[in-house]
Amino acid sequence: MLRSKIIGTGSYVPKKIVTNQDLEKMVDTSDTWISTRTGIRERHIAVEDSSSEMASKAAKNALKAAGVSPKDIDLIVVGTVTPEMTFPSTACFVQSHLGVKAGAAAFDVSAACSGFLYALDIADKYIKTGAAGKALVIGVDQFSKLVDWNDRATCVLFGDGAGAVVLSAEKGSRGVLSCHIHSDGKHWEMLYSGNPCPPSPFEERKAANQYLVMNGNETFKIAVRTMGGAITEAMEQNKLTAEDISLLIPHQANLRIINATRDRLKLPDEKVYTNLDRYGNTSAGSIPLALDEAVRLGRVKENDIILFVSFGGGLTWASAAVRW
Ligand SMILES: CC(C)(COP(=O)(O)OP(=O)(O)OC[C@H]1O[C@@H](n2cnc3c(N)ncnc32)[C@H](O)[C@@H]1OP(=O)(O)O)[C@@H](O)C(=O)NCCC(=O)NCCS
Repeated sequence: MLRSKIIGTGSYVPKKIVTNQDLEKMVDTSDTWISTRTGIRERHIAVEDSSSEMASKAAKNALKAAGVSPKDIDLIVVGTVTPEMTFPSTACFVQSHLGVKAGAAAFDVSAACSGFLYALDIADKYIKTGAAGKALVIGVDQFSKLVDWNDRATCVLFGDGAGAVVLSAEKGSRGVLSCHIHSDGKHWEMLYSGNPCPPSPFEERKAANQYLVMNGNETFKIAVRTMGGAITEAMEQNKLTAEDISLLIPHQANLRIINATRDRLKLPDEKVYTNLDRYGNTSAGSIPLALDEAVRLGRVKENDIILFVSFGGGLTWASAAVRW
């Protein structure tokens, strides 16, 4: 049986760092409030990089780690809700930036913070069915261009960044064991951004709120519930106990949400990877960025069982289990 083996990881964050202290000068907030309520201390903000540039830099690092040429890539799937343009897809820009061969398939997936796991699920199915031999799966977002920098309730939470993996079709027991993706559109108003598409008159669209809108308290509760459910689903499908899990890499939105998930699973702290103190919530970039860091720090070893779990606007939620 063919499996999608992750043979390389990469990530990229823009240079500019905005600390909680910097935010204190912009809105009525404090380092204490932000760090105790969220766990976030600083975030990277894109000034010069666009989404496709961040995605391409992360992908380039992943290809280098994998020792794979862009010419060998058959499929590029990018999870993003802050695409380079409405169309073409950010994936097509990545194809062009990296020199991936003409004729490869490239497309984006819109699932907000679950974008990377949705993209992984799709690419995994292409690999398992033999439709692609090697795939680039990327998560990238640039929420700095969606948030209202005068709104303290949202601007403190997010950062910009990208992460990528190279999947290769290989026989054996190592690779993606399962992916589960879910959504419940009736909760769309919990977290959204952007105008409705026409036919609204132009003036109406112009006046509409362009910024990200979030019901933080409700999103928090749903996040804890759905992430817990998604992990249980992955564990049951793969007949895993908490002891079998080497590392949980959750979506990095809020340390209190991550800790609630950790407690539900009865996992020790050292089995849960967090880096949101330095990056904030990078949406679709968050899981692959954390994975790349964990790999480069030697936290992931051959045959380890790694669990990923996410939630985000849509509402969407997802999980994946991987034997490394
Ligand atoms: C946003 C979030 C951190 C707010 O934390 P909370 O403990 O629920 O705080 P509340 O929203 O109840 O607000 C408490 C108070 O802090 C204030 N507050 C909100 N943001 C603030 C900030 N940045 N600085 C200081 N005070 C702030 C509120 O106005 C409120 O004041 P009030 O009591 O006088 O009305 C939390 O709800 C959360 O993380 N939700 C999930 C959001 C998320 O992850 N979204 C992305 C999904 S992928």
